[in-house]
Amino acid sequence: MIDRELLDLAARAAARAHSPYSGVRVGAALRAPDGRVFTGCNVENASYGLTICAERVAVTKAISEGVARFVAAAVWSSTPRPFTPCGACRQFLSEFARELPISLGCSGGAEEEAELSALLPRAFHFDR
Ligand code: THU
Repeated sequence: MIDRELLDLAARAAARAHSPYSGVRVGAALRAPDGRVFTGCNVENASYGLTICAERVAVTKAISEGVARFVAAAVWSSTPRPFTPCGACRQFLSEFARELPISLGCSGGAEEEAELSALLPRAFHFDR
């Protein structure tokens, strides 16, 4: 089921993107077990490789506030079809949520649901 509230917050975060190079605005929202929501947007750089995706911005904001578990996520992109999290973001999210329902939306209007464990099967975890 699409998490309407989380997807709306992701869309609002996308409006704050710094993406003059791709022109694509992406927003992400993560729901913590206590209900708090952490958002992020993509932050590009003139040195293109330094770009940070919206998902990783949201995760690092949460971690730095002491929240390291998530129960749901949403990603919204200013594209005709929804973006799914890139490979790096799948791995980054997987560190903190092995199972994570992700609501996807876009300016084109299409919506989809995805499950992180299906997007990243056999994820790498350093279990010691
Ligand atoms: N982007 C994200 O923010 N999240 C993703 O999962 C895929 C890509 C951003 C990075 C870049 O600023 C723009 O989308 C185009 O790749």
